Amino acid sequence: MSSQKNIFFATCAPGVEPVLHEEIRALRLPRSERQVGGVYFEGGIEAARRANLWLRTAIRVLMRVQRFACGDEGTLYAETKRVPWESFLRADGGLVVDAQSRDSSLSHSRFIEQRVKDAIVDRFREKTGRRPNVDREGADLGVHAHLFRDRCTLSVDTSGHALHRRGWRKHQGRAPLAETLAAAVVKFSGWDGRAPLLDPFCGSATIPIEAALMAAGIAPGLFSQGFGFENWPGHDTKAWEREKSEAHQKRRSPKRLRLYGTDRDKQRIGEARENAASAGVGDQVELEVADAREFAPRRGWNAWIASNLPYGERIDRGIDLEVLYERFGDALRTHCEGYHVALLCPLGPLTKRLGLRRPERHTLLNGGLDCRLLCAKIDP
Ligand SMILES: C[S@@+](CC[C@H](N)C(=O)[O-])C[C@H]1O[C@@H](n2cnc3c(N)ncnc32)[C@H](O)[C@@H]1O
Repeated sequence: MSSQKNIFFATCAPGVEPVLHEEIRALRLPRSERQVGGVYFEGGIEAARRANLWLRTAIRVLMRVQRFACGDEGTLYAETKRVPWESFLRADGGLVVDAQSRDSSLSHSRFIEQRVKDAIVDRFREKTGRRPNVDREGADLGVHAHLFRDRCTLSVDTSGHALHRRGWRKHQGRAPLAETLAAAVVKFSGWDGRAPLLDPFCGSATIPIEAALMAAGIAPGLFSQGFGFENWPGHDTKAWEREKSEAHQKRRSPKRLRLYGTDRDKQRIGEARENAASAGVGDQVELEVADAREFAPRRGWNAWIASNLPYGERIDRGIDLEVLYERFGDALRTHCEGYHVALLCPLGPLTKRLGLRRPERHTLLNGGLDCRLLCAKIDP
């Protein structure tokens, strides 16, 4: 399977596509093309292994296995049955199917899922006399069926789990940012990987931890307990072990790197320290209790501030967010001339209170909430 050229689609949270595309280009994954919701690229299965191991902002890497015109149930069943599913699943393995349909004659996703499952199971039964189990939790293979304008695309999930669940997190905090989104915030900020980076609302420290992993060249996939492709019958264990060991060797120990996270909540800081230790960057991220209303970092430091500010909807209903945003904005103007900021804020009038001048705005979706990432350099 390795020499074969496949089409992959790395999915991401809405708005993250530009930085995911940059990552994919930096990994030299060929023929990449940005779409809404993700980025296509091509290659053999080794390209999927590399993507799962190294991409920081992707949620899943799907591999296309079949695409066909599909206006009725019979075609869906017959075309699905033609796919050599035994390349991806053992006859006694667990299977989960997930379907989406838009502007198509077959419109009920549950029905599509059922027919795709039937076709896969029937193929196994006819070929081997055995059949896979249908298994929502802990399935060995995830299959995605996507219908759009009566064209069906069938894909297998090479990741096997959402990649934002890296595996380093011990504590969630109260409103944790997904690891993939934290990595996207750092990438959008344009951080150079050397300057000090501060998160004055760090919560469980997702942003400083992801920044530390980037600066140390630690592949995020090294934390994973196993990817979907590792269950495939033809999986090349030797090549995979070699690729992981090469990734381990790429780890750097950046000298004099200063990463700081502060939060007013003492419990969060205790948890954040455990998270950083679990990610292996406990000695690179300094975490302390502090109130962002008194934020006063060193002047002239040319640091980066990357942070996810409190949202009224999810937490901190009890605090006056307008005053907090205003005071934090004042602190930025007073102490942070020349700093770069990337602030993830809820959509709405609160962001005006920060008083940032002509920030670059990116629309991102965080846990179902529409957000703005405001990127700016603090001018005198
Ligand atoms: C949206 S959460 C940040 C979540 C974080 N990015 C994570 O991944 O866990 C906002 C954080 O701001 C903190 N916070 C609220 N008011 C604060 C203040 N005045 N000073 C410092 N931190 C504050 C809350 O305790 C909360 O942890």
